[in-house]
Amino acid sequence: MLAKINETATYLKGKMQRFPKVGIILGTGLGELASQITEKQEIEYQTIPNFPVSTVEGHSGKLIIGKLGTTEVLAMQGRFHYYEGYSMQEVTFPVRVMKALGIETLLVSNASGGVNPSFEIGDLMIITDHINTFPEHPLRGKNHPELGVRFPDMSQAYSKELISKAKKIAARNTIKVVEGVYLGTSGPTFETPAEYVYFRNIGADTVGMSTVPEVIVAVHSGIKVFAMSIITDLGVPGKIVEVSHEEVQHIANQVQPKMTQIMKELIAEL
Ligand code: HPA
Repeated sequence: MLAKINETATYLKGKMQRFPKVGIILGTGLGELASQITEKQEIEYQTIPNFPVSTVEGHSGKLIIGKLGTTEVLAMQGRFHYYEGYSMQEVTFPVRVMKALGIETLLVSNASGGVNPSFEIGDLMIITDHINTFPEHPLRGKNHPELGVRFPDMSQAYSKELISKAKKIAARNTIKVVEGVYLGTSGPTFETPAEYVYFRNIGADTVGMSTVPEVIVAVHSGIKVFAMSIITDLGVPGKIVEVSHEEVQHIANQVQPKMTQIMKELIAEL
C-alpha cells in the first residue's frame, strides 16, 4: 500500500500546478461547488495510477485542483462506495493520497436518511460524530506507522473548531442546520423500517452509505475533518415513504445551494 500511495502521489505531484492544503470530497449535494472552482486543473481518475474508477450513476470521476475564492483546493468529483464492490483500501485510497500531497483539512458531503424524528426532508446536518457499521474496517491489517498509529483515537473525529465556524456561517446566512450522528452502513439497499428503528435506537440521527471510511482514514492520517449531510428522506416510523436514488438526487439538488454556501464560506475562513 505504501508503494502505491507514493507512486500515485509522485505522479500527481509531477502534474499538479498548485499544492492545496484543503481537500474536498464532493459527495451528493456539492456538485455545484465544483463549477465554482476557478483556475481549474482536472485530472481524470482513469489516468491516475492505482486510482479506482467510479461507477455509480450521478458520480463522475476526476480530481479538480484550483481555487475557491482565494483558497487553493483539491476536490474529488466522484467517490468510491463500498457497495460498488471496492475494498475499504480502495474506498479510502484517495484520502491517503491527499495526505501524501499535503492536504491538512478535508471537507466531505453526503446524502442520508434521517432517523431523528425532529428532522425534516431537506434539512442540512453538520456531522458531529459517527457510528461505523460497515462490515470491513479500513484500518484492518498491518499498520504502517508512517501513515498513523495502530489504535487511533476517535473521540473527536469531526473538528469542533470547524463545526463551530460552520454554525456561525449558517446563522449569519439564516440557513437552518441541525447537528447529529451519521451512521455509515454498507448499502446498497436502503433500510427496512425495522432497520431505521434499530439505527435510531443505537444512537444515529441519520443513515448513509459513505463518509465513515474516508473520515476514519483522514483521522488516522492526522487530517482535520468537517462533514455535512443532506437529509433526503426519513426513516422515522409513521413518516417512512418509498425512497429511490432519483429522489435522493432530487432533494439533494434542491438543498445544494445552502450546503455550497456554507462550505464556500468555511473554506474562506480556513
Ligand atoms: N439510507 C441510506 N443511505 C441513504 C439514505 C437512506 O435512507 N438516503 C440517502 N442515502
